[in-house]
Amino acid sequence: MTRTVLVTGGSRGIGRAVAERFAADGASVVITGRRAELVEAAAKELGATGVVCDATDPRAVEDLAAGFDTLDVLVNAAGGLGQAQPDPAATELESVLAQWRADLDGNLLSAVLTTTALKSVLAPGGTAVAVGSIGAERRGGSYGAAKAALAAWYAILSAELGPRGVTANVVSPGYIADTDFFRGAMTDAREQALIAETHTKRAGTPRDIAETVFFLASDGARHITGQTLHVNGGAFTTR
Ligand SMILES: NC(=O)c1ccc[n+]([C@@H]2O[C@H](COP(=O)([O-])OP(=O)(O)OC[C@H]3O[C@@H](n4cnc5c(N)ncnc54)[C@H](OP(=O)(O)O)[C@@H]3O)[C@@H](O)[C@H]2O)c1
Repeated sequence: MTRTVLVTGGSRGIGRAVAERFAADGASVVITGRRAELVEAAAKELGATGVVCDATDPRAVEDLAAGFDTLDVLVNAAGGLGQAQPDPAATELESVLAQWRADLDGNLLSAVLTTTALKSVLAPGGTAVAVGSIGAERRGGSYGAAKAALAAWYAILSAELGPRGVTANVVSPGYIADTDFFRGAMTDAREQALIAETHTKRAGTPRDIAETVFFLASDGARHITGQTLHVNGGAFTTR
């Protein structure tokens, strides 16, 4: 049976690799992103359907969800470091609030809106996955707080969906190279420091995350739910 898969933020980086993995398995894949040119180009290359959708916009998410009668795999990959609009007239606290809201909107509420809009059509045997971050465990600031809240919410989502045979998990990457996440701000020294923290002595790749998400959507993972799976080469260990 052909599975239907939706990957938010599937036009670049980790989300794109996830979409590619499911497309290679013969799934019918839908990807989203905000920039139409990236969505169109990625959809064409992957043989996927591209939909321009800002995951923080409730109306846009409702329009996206209206296109699905059923869904086997939902992957919330949209997110990244929040960028508040610069406002020279803002007070210090107003600036703090804008930055926190940007991170909460982009990394928590984006997944809350998309998942809430689509959870009723997730088919038995299906799965919802959200991309978290090692930043939820340490040094994360407002970005890490948003990702920590995402994992907390996914735990209760798991309890809600579990009786219907649908799993819900967070995949939490460490440093992943070959993404636009750092927007060109990654220095060689910083990258070497992040790699040195790992036990594997390498950067993660989008494919590392894609394969983990693909596993969570497989028959072998049907009793894994309500979890955060860390994919970071040992840079953060759970014990
Ligand atoms: N790279 C890392 O080291 C790393 C580590 C830990 C966690 N993560 C997480 O991994 C996820 C994917 O990031 P990435 O590293 O692959 O970054 P990326 O290369 O910048 O890709 C992000 C993707 O998400 C889309 N996107 C962002 N905000 C969106 C929104 N509001 N609505 C719809 N699409 C949106 C982007 O397209 P548009 O900008 O055109 O919308 C792009 O397709 C994020 O949740 C990020 O927090 C990344």
